[in-house]
Amino acid sequence: MISFPGRNDVIQRVYDHGQGHIFAFWDTLSDDERGRLLDDAGAIDFALLDRLYRQARQSAPPTMGFEPAPYIPLPIDEEGRRSFMEAREAGIAVIRKGAVAAFVVAGGQGSRLGFDGPKGLFRAGPVSGKSLFQIHAEKILKSSEKYGVRIPWLIMTSHANHEDTVRYLSENSRFGLDTSDVYVFPQGMIPSLDTEGKLILETPSSLFKNPDGHGGSLGALADSGVLRAMRERGIEIISYFQVDNPLVSIIDPVFIGFHSLRGADISSKGLMKAYPGEKIGVFARFDNGAIGVVEYSDLPEDLQNQRDARGALRFCMGSIAIHLFGVGFLESITGGSALSLPFHVARKKIGAYTGNGTTEIDGYKFEKFVFDALPLTEKNIVLETRREEEFAPIKNPSGVDSVESARGLMDALARSWLRERGIAVPASVRTIEISPLLALEPGDLPASTSVPDKELVYLE
Ligand code: UD1
Repeated sequence: MISFPGRNDVIQRVYDHGQGHIFAFWDTLSDDERGRLLDDAGAIDFALLDRLYRQARQSAPPTMGFEPAPYIPLPIDEEGRRSFMEAREAGIAVIRKGAVAAFVVAGGQGSRLGFDGPKGLFRAGPVSGKSLFQIHAEKILKSSEKYGVRIPWLIMTSHANHEDTVRYLSENSRFGLDTSDVYVFPQGMIPSLDTEGKLILETPSSLFKNPDGHGGSLGALADSGVLRAMRERGIEIISYFQVDNPLVSIIDPVFIGFHSLRGADISSKGLMKAYPGEKIGVFARFDNGAIGVVEYSDLPEDLQNQRDARGALRFCMGSIAIHLFGVGFLESITGGSALSLPFHVARKKIGAYTGNGTTEIDGYKFEKFVFDALPLTEKNIVLETRREEEFAPIKNPSGVDSVESARGLMDALARSWLRERGIAVPASVRTIEISPLLALEPGDLPASTSVPDKELVYLE
């Protein structure tokens, strides 16, 4: 057995768990490299990995029965409109007292979109070319101005993109937000395993690890100290969204109002699925009464297609990964920083260092999903929203959920706001974009707004 001054306990633990192969290249490593490998090994929770490997080897875990979850529908009559107005008033009061923070999960890379860097740097604006980060930052800045309050922006990065993200935000002066209002912290990592349950080397002196999923964000909030900082700032609600959705309404008074009036621990936005096989999770009420999300890959085809008496999809409410989290609730589930969200297993190709460079092998990656927090609440609610107003995920370079479709949706939303305000759009206009600094909703557009007669229009 190898040894290293002061670290022999770690080495022993690695051998005790049958993982001594990670020292295969020990003789070729410098002392610094040996130290780094032992840092990686020392951070491993072997009991957890053993459990996850057993989970990976089992066929699908037994699932509870479930039915469609109840939700607050979009208003269709006077009573519905009144309750949305009341929620809006209540939400504005909560925002104005400075009790809301914005939280984006941005651990992903832009690789699927064909560029090498944090996804938040992707230029989504159809006319302005503004990045996703800039669009989100400007929405937060505009909300701060509109409600006369400072709104902190929390950004979860990953190991792979933390430094690039911090540099980008600093080079662009956080798009006008104050340094003291922007909190950037990386998510956790977890080692992947091969199909025999063995740790994988990424280099001779480091283990292959993957980010612990967007569900890792709740633990990362607590571990980074940001949750405590929010408590100290008087924040009561954290508004969670994904970096890849330029249409998201980050500080939404109606949503915040319903969350507050109903005393929810978590609130989620949902929308009508476009077609049975759409790749979004659906809201469901489990047999134990808890409301949560069943991921699309776990919803059997017969349930996906099931229709009610009126011919509508039975599991119709899709999750778009927009949630409000009560700070008190987050404190209760992250107490002692051990968060009880389960890990999900995905069988993936992994680049393993073998001595002659890197080889693709089959292995298991483990990830937490944020929506698994929903069933841990005392109370959570689902609010229906309109797809065309809130959801334009940029996942692919073209086709469904792509850069093209998102830009088209941004253009369509801008046109609908202008229509609502009776502002004419000349026929020559091919694409139109509205800066978040000008308006977050139709009512923000100044009465003097006019649209110039040209192909590409940016209203700012
Ligand atoms: C996810 C949801 C799906 C939802 C859809 C809406 C899951 C399993 N599925 O799908 O139910 O309908 O979004 O767009 O979540 N991220 C991190 N760290 C990680 C993993 C992800 O920060 O370790 C961030 C990404 O940067 C991105 C977001 O989480 O902002 C979503 O990740 P992605 O992998 O694109 O989710 P989907 O599987 O597409």
